Amino acid sequence: MPQYLIHPSPRLSGEVSISTAKNAVLPILAAALLTHEEVIIHQVPNLTDTRHMLEILQVCGAETSMEGGHVRIRALSVGSPRENPLLRTMRASVLIMGPLAARNGQCILSMPGGCAIGQRPIDLHLKGLQKLGARVELDGGVASVTGQLKGANIYLDFPSVGATENLVMAAVLAKGVTRIENAAKEPEIADLCHFLTAMGARIAGIGTNNIMIEGVEHLHGAEYTPIPDRIEAGTLACAAALTDGSVLLSGARSDHMRALLFKLSESGVICQEDERGLRLRGRARHPMEARTLSYPGFPTDMQAPLMVVATQTHGLSVFLETIFENRYMHVVELNRLGAQIRVEGQLALIQGGKALTGANVTATDLRAAAALMLAGLIAQGETRMDDPGGHLMRGYEGLEEKLSALGADCRKIQEEG
Ligand code: EPZ
Repeated sequence: MPQYLIHPSPRLSGEVSISTAKNAVLPILAAALLTHEEVIIHQVPNLTDTRHMLEILQVCGAETSMEGGHVRIRALSVGSPRENPLLRTMRASVLIMGPLAARNGQCILSMPGGCAIGQRPIDLHLKGLQKLGARVELDGGVASVTGQLKGANIYLDFPSVGATENLVMAAVLAKGVTRIENAAKEPEIADLCHFLTAMGARIAGIGTNNIMIEGVEHLHGAEYTPIPDRIEAGTLACAAALTDGSVLLSGARSDHMRALLFKLSESGVICQEDERGLRLRGRARHPMEARTLSYPGFPTDMQAPLMVVATQTHGLSVFLETIFENRYMHVVELNRLGAQIRVEGQLALIQGGKALTGANVTATDLRAAAALMLAGLIAQGETRMDDPGGHLMRGYEGLEEKLSALGADCRKIQEEG
């Protein structure tokens, strides 16, 4: 089981480069199933989730290779992974449904489980595929999606990121035109659409909540470098804000991070964009209010890291989590470090200004693991974080190494397994 040892950190300073975005790379890897030609994706981060996605593509019949972040995929012929246990290791496995249904006219796969932060149903994915003409049957946790897809008008009851991605990938090879209304607008979706366009797809309204796709006969191979990870950059920005640091996040796209940067600057941090990326200077001082929303609202993936910043401001901060029903599991662990946070339903009240004290804590999910690591940077004494689920390595490429490169005393003391 991975364990991390974190000691109080001096002011973080220096430069660190941002990896490409996990949540852009995962749908882009799945999209490689849409063509029999070779696809090359550059700078793929070495994460548990990206390795799992490549394994899932292999189970579907694709040949894949990864050399220093450069990934080659060729899906000459593809089939359904059915009930391969790999599917249940990662929610994002559901993203192969759209490509397989579009390429093969059939996809049979076990439903991805829920996870710590919520039930995470896929009803919107399945309803959209039915609108595209697929027959959807659910039997004992296995979903079968069959039929030639035809263009349709789809309205998403909720701007689901995964459902938008799955339905765009299904529609690119469907006969006719598809319109997806109330689509999610996260930058990772626009990145997927740009990649699909590079493969020959015809998509309009990229980056808006009204996406129109004109189906084509087939897609060709492409070479692509995904966008930088706005959540990794946001996590490191919070680390700088906690330690009164002066940090350059090279390659960060501040235009993808407006909501978070407004919160940090409202709280007293100086955020400056320059041609190399994003510079953060100074400490967060003033309490804040944050309501998680679909993009461009404040991102739910930043709720836990920013909550740690709120514990060090002077006054009462109020957070409202509106996206996932169970995304406050980090609160118990932060309170173990001496934070004063109270959860009332979807509201969290954070009484700031009290120093934290190191303790043994346990990571419950990916962003909670990052938040606890940040808390260890400013807790007096030693913080030991157990990560039994290996959560941190699922979504961050060496977060402890990047923090150490900025001056933190933060290291992994036990390898997985
Ligand atoms: C994506 O998950 C991200 N994962 C999540 O990041 C992120 O938190 C989330 O979008 C919201 O931004 C990837 O991109 C791999 P949703 P996704 O479908 O697609 C409900 C991280 O930490 N819903 O927008 O699963 C769902 O239960 C991860 O990197 C339905 O009810 O998110 C949730 O409450 C965590 N029915 C809400 O919508 C559906 O059919 C948002 O889900 C689909 C979703």
